[in-house]
Amino acid sequence: MSESDARAMNLEVSTGACPSHLAPFLRLNDSHPDLYRKLVIDPFVVKYGVYGFFPRAYDLIYLSDKSPNITFSGRTRGRVAILTSRSNNMVIKPLQNSNEAKVATLAGELGVGPKQFDSLQGFLSEEYISGTFITDNHSNSDIRPCIEDIGIKLGAAFGKLHENKICYNDSTVSDPDKRSHLILDQASDIKLIDFGISLSLEEYPNFSLEETFNYVRTMPIYRIFETMNPTQGDIHSFLKSYQGKFKEISPDTIYDRDLQFLTEGLQLMSDILTEADKTAFMQGFHSTYKR
Ligand SMILES: Nc1ncnc2c1ncn2[C@@H]1O[C@H](COP(=O)(O)OP(=O)(O)O)[C@@H](O)[C@H]1O
Ligand SMILES: [Mg+2]
Repeated sequence: MSESDARAMNLEVSTGACPSHLAPFLRLNDSHPDLYRKLVIDPFVVKYGVYGFFPRAYDLIYLSDKSPNITFSGRTRGRVAILTSRSNNMVIKPLQNSNEAKVATLAGELGVGPKQFDSLQGFLSEEYISGTFITDNHSNSDIRPCIEDIGIKLGAAFGKLHENKICYNDSTVSDPDKRSHLILDQASDIKLIDFGISLSLEEYPNFSLEETFNYVRTMPIYRIFETMNPTQGDIHSFLKSYQGKFKEISPDTIYDRDLQFLTEGLQLMSDILTEADKTAFMQGFHSTYKR
């Protein structure tokens, strides 16, 4: 979809001329008005919108006896659709960066992230990881007795990512809002979800401006710069000059960010974990984490 089509679509939705679930089909109103009118009243389109037309989701919605539930989540990347049914679950989410499909596919193949399915342009379709986030600790699923084991599994997972030149580059166990990207699945295995700001070091030290932004966005220097209300031009110049600095930053320094996010995240879990738990976690982690 071109930028002007997207603008036209947003305008029609914001003025109420087009129901939001039909927004992606708006242009059909000009080219195939009969078809568009059918979509307006189609109960599946009303319930699932565009998600019913994704590979695999189509089968789940249109070809199964009982149609799945659909719920929505997502914050930074926009709307994340979660389809759950008795037979099959999946997640459809907008790409957060232009390299995400490649990185998420590799992470899925390594068993570190959700398996990736065929999708439509601009979106990931992936395995739904059923389980609990590490921050969702409660009395009937206490993580503390297996905290070292979780550390062991995360160490192996980061070892695989780094060996394959992926820096996860995001909070893993917990962010300051207690949101986690680490799910303990039903087989007591761990999975990391959301490779939206991960970095591929395949072309190191060459990074795109988008990757440079993903690297600097959480750094104090960028946070201070942001408080100065920079213009688009200022941001571009900032990123351009930082882009040239990567040759002075070793890959090890970049991968170290994942360990930094991890230790910061553990500190943010003091309501659940004792100091001894955190030590056990890190001992487990370092027993398998190899670079
Ligand atoms: N593969 C997945 N399996 C299970 N839940 C998921 C999956 N992907 C996303 N989610 C859910 O959707 C939320 C948002 O997804 P995420 O990719 O982290 O986007 P954002 O960072 O924008 O919130 C997650 O916190 C999680 O609850
Ligand atoms: Mg996220």
